Amino acid sequence: MVKELIRPKLSRFAEIELTLFENCDVSCAFCGHEKSSQVGMSEDELAAKAPLVRAFVQTLDPKEIESVHLHLVGGELLQDRLLADGWYLEQYRKIVLAFDQICQEFGFAARTFLVTNLLFKKNILVNDWLGEMNRVSQINLIVSYDSSGRPITKQYFENLTMVKTFVSNLNVVATNRTLRKLLDGDPRFEELYENFDIFIDDFLPDKSTEGLIPSDELFLEFLQKFVGSHPGLLPYGPLFQKIDLSEWQDLQFATYNKCTILPDGTMTNYLWPRHHQEHFRFDLSHADNSNFLAEFLDYHKCLSCEYFRICPLRCPVSWAWRKPGRDFGCVNKAFFDSARLKPSRDISQEAGKP
Ligand SMILES: C[S@@+](CC[C@H](N)C(=O)[O-])C[C@H]1O[C@@H](n2cnc3c(N)ncnc32)[C@H](O)[C@@H]1O
Ligand code: SF4
Ligand code: SF4
Repeated sequence: MVKELIRPKLSRFAEIELTLFENCDVSCAFCGHEKSSQVGMSEDELAAKAPLVRAFVQTLDPKEIESVHLHLVGGELLQDRLLADGWYLEQYRKIVLAFDQICQEFGFAARTFLVTNLLFKKNILVNDWLGEMNRVSQINLIVSYDSSGRPITKQYFENLTMVKTFVSNLNVVATNRTLRKLLDGDPRFEELYENFDIFIDDFLPDKSTEGLIPSDELFLEFLQKFVGSHPGLLPYGPLFQKIDLSEWQDLQFATYNKCTILPDGTMTNYLWPRHHQEHFRFDLSHADNSNFLAEFLDYHKCLSCEYFRICPLRCPVSWAWRKPGRDFGCVNKAFFDSARLKPSRDISQEAGKP
């Protein structure tokens, strides 16, 4: 039902977030992973993932979907202690090739994105592996960058220079501290912005990190001031440059045609078992969070909003987090309203015009 309401905003790709394991050798302030966990790291557990990927891909409708994106994540998959003898890289290779084969079987194009903190020292090994992989598959890196809450070292920039051709985009998590830091000025970010596509990702809290949720006021300030001066910033920047109300834009998040596979093999829509009903304002189902989107659309009266076509909406799960004081109204609407008031913007077309 909700899917029908937003059908023109649905993208033509499906997304599988495959978290192989939570293990990581650093500790970012906003990340809820169990950094010492070994779950999912054994040969058997890693081999068990391809059938789960297949089980999801075979549910996809080729009339709706053209390609499938596999987001291969940890924990940190490229931490030095796992790179030592090449064993883990070999397991990742098997999973990526199995994924390609599954997509081929069902007639979908396949793309893999490996998400990394880019802090490894064994950069020649990783660079060579990516080169070899791309001779037989299509695999890119999504590199995380955050102005606060994660280590960004000299090694990070050295690695970025080396693997640059494999990088699809950088990812920034929208915590209140990072948004504030960006607004106050982050010279390292500015340099990266000149050279890479950068995506601002919704922050999904857990109980221990909910203090990092940005207020609606801060988010709006960020959209108005920072996105206004960084028109290439995804997903909002391109919308800010030219507001054409008649043009349908995709959602900024993948709720439909999305599957999350957890280290122990559990398949969910998006959320983890550590996310409980008490955290959310609406009924929680790990299998399907479309009711969160229905609540979002209803709360903001999106279907009768003049910006509905161009609006990327908000991640409905992050929005559904139980948080007092969410009576601001719609941040996106306030952003679009203020952007339209600027005379330099092209607002020639009105919503609903043929
Ligand atoms: C959990 S990390 C795993 C990959 C890798 N270790 C890294 O940091 O890029 C996957 C992605 O989720 C992001 N992330 C971590 N904690 C998050 C949170 N609470 N909400 C939203 N994104 C988060 C990271 O910045 C990264 O882009
Ligand atoms: S590097 Fe990635 S997995 Fe490790 S703590 Fe940071 S966000 Fe979490
Ligand atoms: S601007 Fe707000 S009310 Fe309008 S469609 Fe977007 S989220 Fe909904």
